[in-house]
Order: sequence, then C-alpha cells, then structure tokens
Amino acid sequence: MNKNDPTTIRPGEISRGSEVVENAAVQFIGTIRTPYVTRDMCPRQGKLDGPDCRIDLLPIWADGLTGIEKYGFLDVLYWLHHSRRDLVVQTPRGDGQPTGTFALRSPVRPNPIGLSRVKLVRRDGGTLIVKGLDCLDKTPLIDIKPNRCEFTPQAPDKAADHA
Ligand SMILES: C[S@@+](CC[C@H](N)C(=O)[O-])C[C@H]1O[C@@H](n2cnc3c(N)ncnc32)[C@H](O)[C@@H]1O
Repeated sequence: MNKNDPTTIRPGEISRGSEVVENAAVQFIGTIRTPYVTRDMCPRQGKLDGPDCRIDLLPIWADGLTGIEKYGFLDVLYWLHHSRRDLVVQTPRGDGQPTGTFALRSPVRPNPIGLSRVKLVRRDGGTLIVKGLDCLDKTPLIDIKPNRCEFTPQAPDKAADHA
C-alpha cells in the first residue's frame, strides 16, 4: 500500500511526493488498545469522559511506569501509523478549505505523532487504563509524560528556570 499515493488527494491539496524522506528511528514502547477499529469510529479528539482504553507497555519498559499513579493526567504520544506523510497543504474532509499541515491537528503530517491529554484511571502492572484517547486500536505508543501542570521536577533547579 502506498500511503502517499499522489492520485488520492483532494482539490487544493499539495503533496511533496517522492521528496518525502521517511527515516525516523523512533522506537515503539508499547501498544494502545481502544474500541476504535476504523478511523470513522475514532473521535476527532479524545474525551475525558470517553471509554476506558488500555496502554500496554512492552515488558522491557514496564518499570518506566513506577511512580505514575500519583498523577491524575498524562500526556500520551503515539504514532498514527496509517497516516499518509506527504501532504504540506491539506483539505480537511467536510471543510473544503486548503490549510497548512502545521495549522491543523490532522493525523496526516510528515511525522504522524498524535498527542492526547488523558485521565489516568488505574495502573495494572505494565498496563495503564486511561480515558481520553482518539486513536485506532493497536496504535503504536511512543511516549508517556506526566501532565506538566501537576509535575514537580525531581532534579534540582537550573539557573535558567528562574531567568
Ligand atoms: C485528528 S487526530 C488527533 C490526534 C491527537 N489527539 C492530536 O491532536 O495530536 C485523530 C484522528 O486520527 C485518526 N487516527 C486515529 N488513529 C490513527 C492511526 N493509528 N493512524 C492513522 N490515523 C489515525 C482518526 O481519524 C482520529 O479521529
């Protein structure tokens, strides 16, 4: 399957076609399990009162969840693996207005990274149960970070923190 098929773009869209270099060396650290098995089933953005979803860490990364229970909210980053990666201008479905990729939260982007703020329901070992995801079932997980507002750095302050 050619995700960047130049024959499947909408009026006004601009593809960078064969100029696109796909060389990311991101390592996936787990898998996200959601009830959404087609893109049309996914919400456009996750809702904090949405269904419980599961984040399964690979066993080698499960210890990375140590201490996470003290946070109510997490930022989850994931790889929107079914997205094309060639469009620099795109026309959102139902809008018709060509718009720059970086002015959108569309899954279609050169590095298809999704970001959701989720509510942590509980941790079961190497698995997190959360609410607020919008991705397809089996979407690869890239990273999890505690919500910035709740987070207190564990390392001493740096001078630049007070500048
Ligand atoms: C608009 S994006 C927003 C993603 C993230 N919340 C963000 O703002 O970065 C969410 C949409 O991406 C699509 N999507 C979800 N999982 C995907 C995947 N694994 N590959 C490609 N597209 C996906 C679905 O259509 C979903 O509604």
